[in-house]
Amino acid sequence: MSVAYRILYRLGVTPWEQIANLPDVTERISALFAREEAGREPPYGPALDLGCGSGIWAVRLAARGWQVTGIDDVPKALRRARERAHEADVGLRLVKGDVTRLRATGVGSGFRFLLDFGLFHDELKDDQRAAMARGVSEVAAPGATLLMLAWAPGRRGPLPRGASRAEIEAAYRTWRVIDEEALDPSGAPLYRYVRNADPRFYRLRRAA
Ligand SMILES: C[S@@+](CC[C@H](N)C(=O)[O-])C[C@H]1O[C@@H](n2cnc3c(N)ncnc32)[C@H](O)[C@@H]1O
Repeated sequence: MSVAYRILYRLGVTPWEQIANLPDVTERISALFAREEAGREPPYGPALDLGCGSGIWAVRLAARGWQVTGIDDVPKALRRARERAHEADVGLRLVKGDVTRLRATGVGSGFRFLLDFGLFHDELKDDQRAAMARGVSEVAAPGATLLMLAWAPGRRGPLPRGASRAEIEAAYRTWRVIDEEALDPSGAPLYRYVRNADPRFYRLRRAA
């Protein structure tokens, strides 16, 4: 259980959610989702949101026609995700559990599309990152895509330490980074304070 996230959700301090209020960012993320759907009709298949938090992106994915499971280890975040899914009138399966022990959570398997917006790059130690990546590899379908949002590495006190492409590749040994794109989140107040975040989307493909 992440004590820091538990406290932040209890206080209602969730600055990472600010990007969801930026139309250019949400359009960009929609385009990244659309890329995984190209040439197919809904339902698109099982998707897994790792560290889904209050469900912002899980709900948007579900509304597009994915069968989404969200996992997080903070009950308050999951309660908000449940409400959000209800408000949007979409189905969303929610699992409380630790992504560094993914199989033990009973999250399921065969996921074709996986999101990690802000988990891997944060407070996990290197061995936990590797454990998470092993679990993700086990539950992902052959040829699955993982879309990760991560900050550049940096010393930022209690804020995320970030992850380089090399660090991501070192953990995700059976995956290949097939795309890397910078995100401009400058409209979000958080990023006025954290100027060296340099957030990026990494698109990883698991071997088929
Ligand atoms: C920066 S927040 C991002 C939340 C969500 N992806 C979003 O973009 O709004 C990171 C999330 O990862 C969750 N988390 C951190 N460590 C975790 C772990 N070991 N297992 C499951 N969830 C974890 C936190 O509770 C938090 O909701």
